[in-house]
Amino acid sequence: MNATPYLTLIPLFEELQSERLIMRPYRESDAQALFEAVAESRDHIRPWLPFADTHQTVEESRDWIIHEQANWLTREDLILSIWERATNRFLGGTGIHPKNWEHRYFEIGYWLRVSAQGHGYMTEAVQLLTHYAFSSLAANRVEIRCDERNVRSAAIPRRLGFIQEARMRNHMAAPDGTLRTTLVFALIPSDLCRPLNEMPGDEKQRKTLPDHFVHRL
Ligand SMILES: CC(C)(COP(=O)(O)OP(=O)(O)OC[C@H]1O[C@@H](n2cnc3c(N)ncnc32)[C@H](O)[C@@H]1OP(=O)(O)O)[C@@H](O)C(=O)NCCC(=O)NCCS
Repeated sequence: MNATPYLTLIPLFEELQSERLIMRPYRESDAQALFEAVAESRDHIRPWLPFADTHQTVEESRDWIIHEQANWLTREDLILSIWERATNRFLGGTGIHPKNWEHRYFEIGYWLRVSAQGHGYMTEAVQLLTHYAFSSLAANRVEIRCDERNVRSAAIPRRLGFIQEARMRNHMAAPDGTLRTTLVFALIPSDLCRPLNEMPGDEKQRKTLPDHFVHRL
């Protein structure tokens, strides 16, 4: 019997930093920035993600943020805001979606405000999150899925050396209701260039993962 039945004690982080970016859970005070970024990006998000027409007011964004803070606390979903370090400008969102904590199987999702496209920000963010997942969450699988027509999205896992494992025809409905072909990209530890124990990472934190969700091979 597990002493801790919930996942709330899994150690996470306050923020992650890369060369140009800071990624951290949303704060209520981010509502205005989030609302403005979605408002400028609705047409750019609409073909690919279901939230293009949400965030119609700052209050709605604040409500969503509080909901995601609850998911962070329970470790059900790890949604992150992305900020440019040099300017503190809000760039977009990403997140590690735990598909199965016991097996340490995670999916990464992402979007950028339209005015932040084309600078490699998302590639940098996904690289950092992937590294975090393997080095600190001891991931066994990190996955990225996207509509085959979403060329910019598919370019990110390709650029980072993810393996394309599947091309699923008529897999699900796109936001416009048409059936889409979904590409599945993934990395597992043996795909990494260097063994995990040689990667820089938070070894101490990895060792403190509660036993009940550490998958035993
Ligand atoms: C998917 C999405 C995040 C991709 O954005 P993006 O700007 O193409 O991705 P990056 O931030 O990694 O930038 C890569 C681009 O910047 C360029 N770039 C400039 N400097 C760079 C750098 N230092 N490193 C890498 N790329 C750089 C790349 O050449 C590339 O441009 P190109 O495609 O014209 O060659 C964005 O299109 C988006 O938000 N779409 C709507 C939501 C969505 O589809 N989400 C995914 C659902 S599965």
